[in-house]
Amino acid sequence: MRPFLKWAGGKYRLTKRINEKLPPGNRLLEPFAGSCAVSLNADYPDYWLNDINPDLINLYQTLQQHGWPFIEVCRQYFIPANNTPEKYYELRDRFNRETDPVIKAALFLYLNRHGYNGLSRYNQKGHFNVPFGRFKKPYFPETELHYFYKKFRHAQFTAVDFEEIILSAQPGDVIYCDPPYAPINQTSNFTSYSAGGFNQAEQLRLANVAAIAASKGVTVVISNHYSNFVMEIYSQANIETFPVRRLISCNGERRRQVDEVLAVFEPLSHDN
Ligand SMILES: C[S@@+](CC[C@H](N)C(=O)[O-])C[C@H]1O[C@@H](n2cnc3c(N)ncnc32)[C@H](O)[C@@H]1O
Repeated sequence: MRPFLKWAGGKYRLTKRINEKLPPGNRLLEPFAGSCAVSLNADYPDYWLNDINPDLINLYQTLQQHGWPFIEVCRQYFIPANNTPEKYYELRDRFNRETDPVIKAALFLYLNRHGYNGLSRYNQKGHFNVPFGRFKKPYFPETELHYFYKKFRHAQFTAVDFEEIILSAQPGDVIYCDPPYAPINQTSNFTSYSAGGFNQAEQLRLANVAAIAASKGVTVVISNHYSNFVMEIYSQANIETFPVRRLISCNGERRRQVDEVLAVFEPLSHDN
């Protein structure tokens, strides 16, 4: 099933490949859940879905709490009269001022489907600042919302830093991590920044906590782009690489195809 949100770096097209790498377990933890594409297409008894974006998690918690009546609130915003730049910027301002979590959640879905490329971007004041998307007829994802509601009725949703989730995992849990990509063509320079403030030190912090969780009996699978830096920080893991059709821009100008990496930190059993 497709996620109901568009999400930068969403893994919907790769879910089959990723899910093949995830072993059975009691619970699937996604510390970088985004649109939840991987969990939506996985089959575990329980889920813990986390993302640092509080607006995203507020939307998921509101859907979980209110179900169908909330879907109806969302639908009211998907009308042709709301698909103009004037109305979009008015509703974007309202979102930035809104304090009611239910209205804020419905507006976040509206912005995701009416804004440019489904991006989620904020200025320094923390205001959502994505421009109008100019879509002919934005799709109201009713089926996808309903599926998500039914699938994650008992899931746990949180909006904290990934480390808290990974270090709370218990033996028998499985963790899938999809952090913002590491830059492709940089060497191991720990001061450089990539989009979203997720720099190389953050990538290394993730690899370190993944190794700690594995030592406690938890399987951790991490997605990333292929690069020398990425291969270096996942040296303790089993690595699978495969080409993806998506072309990504590098150096602003050149575009090329980049291999996708799946790093599997196998759990260490305690009698080893
Ligand atoms: C590549 S996206 C995940 C996409 C997701 N797999 C999907 O299919 O939609 C990376 C996510 O990491 C989140 N993120 C960034 N820094 C984080 C942090 N320190 N802790 C938790 N989540 C973080 C971002 O908000 C973003 O949603």
